[in-house]
Amino acid sequence: MSFPRRVQIVDVSPRDGLQNEKEIVPVNIKIELINRLAAAGVPVIEVASFVSPKWVPQLADGAEVLSGIKKSSNVRYPVLVPNLKGFENAVAAGAQEVAVFTTPSEQFSQKNTNCSVGESVERLREVVAAAKQKSIRVRAYLSCVLGCPYEGAMHSKKVAELAKIVYEMGCEEVSLGDTTGVGTPLKTREMIDAVSKHIPIKHLAVHFHDTYGQALANIYVALETGIAIVDSSVAGLGGCPYAKGATGNVATEDVVYMLNGMGIETGIDLQKLVEAGRYISLQLGHPTQSRVNRAWSG
Ligand code: HMG
Ligand code: MG
Repeated sequence: MSFPRRVQIVDVSPRDGLQNEKEIVPVNIKIELINRLAAAGVPVIEVASFVSPKWVPQLADGAEVLSGIKKSSNVRYPVLVPNLKGFENAVAAGAQEVAVFTTPSEQFSQKNTNCSVGESVERLREVVAAAKQKSIRVRAYLSCVLGCPYEGAMHSKKVAELAKIVYEMGCEEVSLGDTTGVGTPLKTREMIDAVSKHIPIKHLAVHFHDTYGQALANIYVALETGIAIVDSSVAGLGGCPYAKGATGNVATEDVVYMLNGMGIETGIDLQKLVEAGRYISLQLGHPTQSRVNRAWSG
């Protein structure tokens, strides 16, 4: 069994985390969170989304966030876009990298983006074509890859077919999203095996929400397949407002603790990361979901 020597953490807390907060978080707090994550050595931080502000008012200030952060040359700052309009707004705000999203679930596609899976793929195609012209890197998320709150179990074959489509259209990385955290290790393995028949492992990432406490076990299995890009969220913030029952992402602190214990490098200073998690939990006024953070607070 061989694990990757180094794992790239993609912290999605400023986007996936804060999109799910009831209150709109002030822009200066978002900026401080991002700067603290960067200072802790997080190499990729998804800082905002450029979706419809009517759908997600929590992230309507993406342009201010992008212009306010202290950009570090060692850190990438992608933003999430749902369509060409979002892409254009993101580029106008200075984004140098974007993430698009779709799903094999027809019902979730309707709930989350008000269109069919086929229409969503065409929106992605438009974004990828526009991004290529500007040499902007595109990552794609597939949501509900291990189950959908509306359709139930998800067939790995369906996930693999959609992954192939988005990879072949030019998305450089495909992040496999367990949006409601229902996946378990053997199903995770089966799904990754199906997807990796079409996409080289180095272009795959995993994105686990921890609703059922399965995320670290699923990440372990993903590492066994050779996947070396892991999405997570400091303090375990996160959730999708359009996925019933979706709670936070796996906490970045907990993933880094596990990887440290396995001798896998991340380049992240866990103490500084824990402090960033404490900062945002204090600002939001709710307890951290990170087990490491709780253990270290005694
Ligand atoms: P729609 O209402 O069907 O869009 O929304 P439309 O094309 O009919 O346009 C309606 C209005 O929205 C128009 O304005 C457009 O200009 C405007 P009006 O004429 O009414 O003034 N509009 C926009 N404004 C700003 N930015 C845009 C934009 N697009 C249209 N980009 C749409 C369709 C896709 C826009 C909407 O459904 C939407 O924004 N959905 C996003 C929902 C979302 O953000 N969900 C959470 C992120 S995904 C996630 O969390 C999962 C993930 O973490 C992975 C995982 O866990 O699985 C990534
Ligand atoms: Mg998510």
